[in-house]
Amino acid sequence: MIRPAELIQRKRDGEELSNDELEELILGYTSFDVPDYQMAAFCMAVYFRGLSPRETFALTDAMIRSGETIDLGSQLGRKVVDKHSTGGVGDKTSLSVGPIVAACGVPFGKMSGRGLGHTGGTLDKLESIPGYRTELGLGEFVDQVRDVGMAIIGQTGDLVPADKLLYGLRDVTATVDQMSLIAASIMSKKLAAGAQAIVLDVKVGDGAFMKTIEDARQLGTTMLSLGREAGREVVCLLTDMDQPLGAAVGNAVEVREALDTVRGRGPADFTELVLDACARLLALSDLGVDEVEGRRRAEAAVADGSAEEAWRRWIAAQGGDPDERALPVAPVQREVLAPADGFVRRLGAIAVGNAAVHLGAGRRTKEDAIDHAVGVLCLAKRGDTVEQGQPLARVLARDDESAAAAEAELLAAYELADDAPPERPVLLDVVD
Ligand code: URA
Repeated sequence: MIRPAELIQRKRDGEELSNDELEELILGYTSFDVPDYQMAAFCMAVYFRGLSPRETFALTDAMIRSGETIDLGSQLGRKVVDKHSTGGVGDKTSLSVGPIVAACGVPFGKMSGRGLGHTGGTLDKLESIPGYRTELGLGEFVDQVRDVGMAIIGQTGDLVPADKLLYGLRDVTATVDQMSLIAASIMSKKLAAGAQAIVLDVKVGDGAFMKTIEDARQLGTTMLSLGREAGREVVCLLTDMDQPLGAAVGNAVEVREALDTVRGRGPADFTELVLDACARLLALSDLGVDEVEGRRRAEAAVADGSAEEAWRRWIAAQGGDPDERALPVAPVQREVLAPADGFVRRLGAIAVGNAAVHLGAGRRTKEDAIDHAVGVLCLAKRGDTVEQGQPLARVLARDDESAAAAEAELLAAYELADDAPPERPVLLDVVD
């Protein structure tokens, strides 16, 4: 017997719910016995009252039990590692980390999502590669990870259906940015997908859910506890999302930058994050190496071309054309010029992300189609010195009108000043 009104009321009044009650609510919602309006009220009660650590674990566990789980490790006969980012602007990290880790002999099987709003989705980026199939069956996915070393696919419908429903509901009821709900949403998917070791990348700053390092640390600690309670090894990086990551923001343009990085020619901040994540994944893997040796092997795989080879094998195995000349190119390109001499004091991640969305690179609603060719290249980043008339950014657009609008948005996103801003590294802290 489901009593959602009573549970909503008790949570509204600040009471703790039992594990059975949370399970009843989640399974009732997934079977459509609990309607959206009651679940929305429950999410809002959680938004204001929060969940205890025990409740957060019980919610995560109930969400996992709403669908299938995969034991990738036993299907492959290897320890499987995974990474997850909370989402940001220009975040193409998995695209570079996967082939580098695979080239080092560690299987990398990842299920990713699509972007909404100013944050891009890994699947949308991959779909700019002609022929790339994001929807492999589970058997094909496991075979490809075993035979080719890596695969990145869309999440199968059977994995954590409760999150699919709940995330859509939270998105339209102003209840996304609640710590326990975010932690349960992310970790339910990671735990159900079966990785034994997980590197989490919690983004901090303007373009992230977590605006402050304190909030990011709390989210990281919550996810770490959920993972460890479920018997997994977890490391959590807190990384900068005050400005876009790397130079490229869009889809095909991010795929190009990810490949450049796999070849050792990527932007400094993005390369640092990729190599750091690879080192930690290798240290968590069954290779029996520490982070220092992991970093050395990741750098060697980039330098000797084996990471690029792994990229080609992966893209081809998934039906895509590995030749970067096959990626779509925007017909209109326009440079955004510095209006004065100075330092780049700020480059707002949300403003750049929104400019890319307005060009057509992202979605405003779930139904929107994406233009894979368009986007932005941030040629100057925070701390760079620029001279008047020097290009700050390049707009990649479908037509002159959208290019002109993006140019104005990007000019507003760059704040120039006479003095240099304080240094802010890409890797801000580690929670482990
Ligand atoms: N990413 C997720 O998968 N879920 C959230 O709630 C927030 C970010």
